[in-house]
Amino acid sequence: MKIPRAKILAPTLENLKFVSEALQNNEIIGMPTETVYGLAANARSPLAIARVFQAKSRPYFDPLIVHLGLEGNCVSALAEMKLIDSAQLSPEQRKKIDRMIKKFWPGPLTLILPKHPDIPDLVSSGLPQVGLRMPTHQIAQSLIHFAGFPLAAPSANRFGKISPTSAEAVQEELGDRIDWILDGGTCEIGLESTIVTIPSESQIEILRPGKVTQAELEEVLEVPISIKTINASHLSKEVEEKESLKSPGLLESHYAPSKPCYLLPCSDDKLTIHSFSLNDLHLNVPIPLQDKEVGYLLQSNRSKSWIKTVCHEMNIRPQIRVLSETGNLVESAQNLFKFMREMDSSEVEVILVEPCESEQGLGRAIQDRILRATAHSRKRVF
Ligand code: TXA
Ligand code: MG
Repeated sequence: MKIPRAKILAPTLENLKFVSEALQNNEIIGMPTETVYGLAANARSPLAIARVFQAKSRPYFDPLIVHLGLEGNCVSALAEMKLIDSAQLSPEQRKKIDRMIKKFWPGPLTLILPKHPDIPDLVSSGLPQVGLRMPTHQIAQSLIHFAGFPLAAPSANRFGKISPTSAEAVQEELGDRIDWILDGGTCEIGLESTIVTIPSESQIEILRPGKVTQAELEEVLEVPISIKTINASHLSKEVEEKESLKSPGLLESHYAPSKPCYLLPCSDDKLTIHSFSLNDLHLNVPIPLQDKEVGYLLQSNRSKSWIKTVCHEMNIRPQIRVLSETGNLVESAQNLFKFMREMDSSEVEVILVEPCESEQGLGRAIQDRILRATAHSRKRVF
């Protein structure tokens, strides 16, 4: 086996200073955050940013999020730090942004705001807005502090692949393309940040669901917020293209394992032997599963024994992983990318994922990532 070039470093003060210097020399590094690991670079250096796109094989139309230090705690501070052009915001918009910052930063919320000219166009893929996030993770904050500049950091995976939630997963993804990964252990949240945009005076939209929910944002802002996310019936090409212009990285098919990955037809509540025939369970799977090793990613324990029976009768060899035995969404979010990654590198030939039907808390974000992971196969099926 090829030994990866990237070294995983313990987050000692010495190592933090060492990688901060690497960042100052336009190098790029793997950095833990509370959501997923990022591939960090000096947000003000076009050379460093270009290296990020290259290492990820990421198309240049897909903009990066800029991670900032704790001092950026209001609109005027962000303007002073030359991150945003606050002149483009109305007093009402500033008020709303300040409220979101006060309530959710540092934390898993990315705000799309008018870009300051000092942020290279490469960061925002030529868009007039930039995505900003203040991570709560201590190591990320220390790096920003020692480096002395904000860090542009997309998730540290190859383009279109599953976001990494551990240093080892970063090594698996980019180990042959970068030198250093700071080890922050397993990410606390496990899914990427909620992305919010303010397209006009009266509109606020969620472009990507995450830990910060629609309900929480509505409570803070006291206005209705729309959510632009995919749903189970696949988007038309036309809609997808239109939406992808708003947030170019959010193409429907994303976060996908390399193996064929299909959605099971319904949640575990309905998965009972009485209401579903054996074939119904595999309704969405266009290939024969008999005699195959099949990965089942289930939401909770409830349908486990039934799936085992079905597999036995159909001569399928199941590898079952349960996101959370008790259906705890926080635990499911932490495990989703980890288990998808493990299944992807296991012996299974096909991965089948049970949908998450909860709209509460992280439910929406979990379902969004599952629909994206299975998007290719859904397109083929319907
Ligand atoms: O939790 C997270 O957000 C993680 C960690 C590392 O912070 N980062 C992350 O970055 O998920 P990335 O690059 O994998 O996803 C960021 C997405 C882009 O694909 C793009 O759709 C959207 O954020 N985005 C960034 N800047 C934008 C902009 N100026 N306008 C619209 N969408 C933007
Ligand atoms: Mg990503």
